[in-house]
Amino acid sequence: MARCIALVPAAGHGSRFGSATPKQYLDINGQPLLAHTLAVLAANPDIDQVAVVISPGDEWFDSFDWPQPKLTVLRVGGASRAESVANGLAALAPAADDWVLVHDAARCCLSPQALARLIAEIGDDAVGGILAQPVADTVKQGDAAARISATVPRDGLWLAQTPQMFRAGLLACALADAANPAITDEASAIELLGHAPRLVVGEAQNFKVTWPGDLALAAAILAARN
Ligand code: CTP
Ligand code: MG
Repeated sequence: MARCIALVPAAGHGSRFGSATPKQYLDINGQPLLAHTLAVLAANPDIDQVAVVISPGDEWFDSFDWPQPKLTVLRVGGASRAESVANGLAALAPAADDWVLVHDAARCCLSPQALARLIAEIGDDAVGGILAQPVADTVKQGDAAARISATVPRDGLWLAQTPQMFRAGLLACALADAANPAITDEASAIELLGHAPRLVVGEAQNFKVTWPGDLALAAAILAARN
């Protein structure tokens, strides 16, 4: 039977966040951010294994306890997110028809409900798909001087989130050229092969912790849930 593996790239430096400690190890409500991310994935009964990709030179991971029976640690992070995912996939060597759910370490507020919805809706899809949010705000094109040059119709526009769920064989094939700058998420790599991944409605709270101000918002969301 096909297995279901969560693959969590966590080898970034968090340059926009700007802290000396990478954002995935910063404290949120008494635990490193990454622990919240791994917990929601491990708690899903359909997920068999949770693999986290960290940098080979990571100085922080081993200073925490990670009491997750489903957890596998892969010290094979690469120069870009796509390379970290490709390296992690190569190290895991899953069966071609296993499902892989790639989920950003920095999206620690993913809800169990949204995760379950993705797995339920993609479980028999021929291509795979992603959580995404329909764009709610009016979209502006800005110029170099931060002046509006156009208003972009938002019909049909979605913001890609993670997890992004694809069969391991198709994903490995799509990420064969992980250094291609056009590959900014797994779906874009699958699209380059000519496929059209499914869009499953995500949630605003599944945002990516990116800027320093995001940490307090994530803490509030997680505190309200517990
Ligand atoms: N990531 C990774 N390997 C990289 C770069 C990023 O595994 N070489 C991971 C990050 O750890 C993060 C996820 O990919 O969990 C999404 O990336 P992002 O939010 O952009 O994190 P960073 O790249 O660390 O942040 P920044 O872009 O601000 O430097
Ligand atoms: Mg980045």
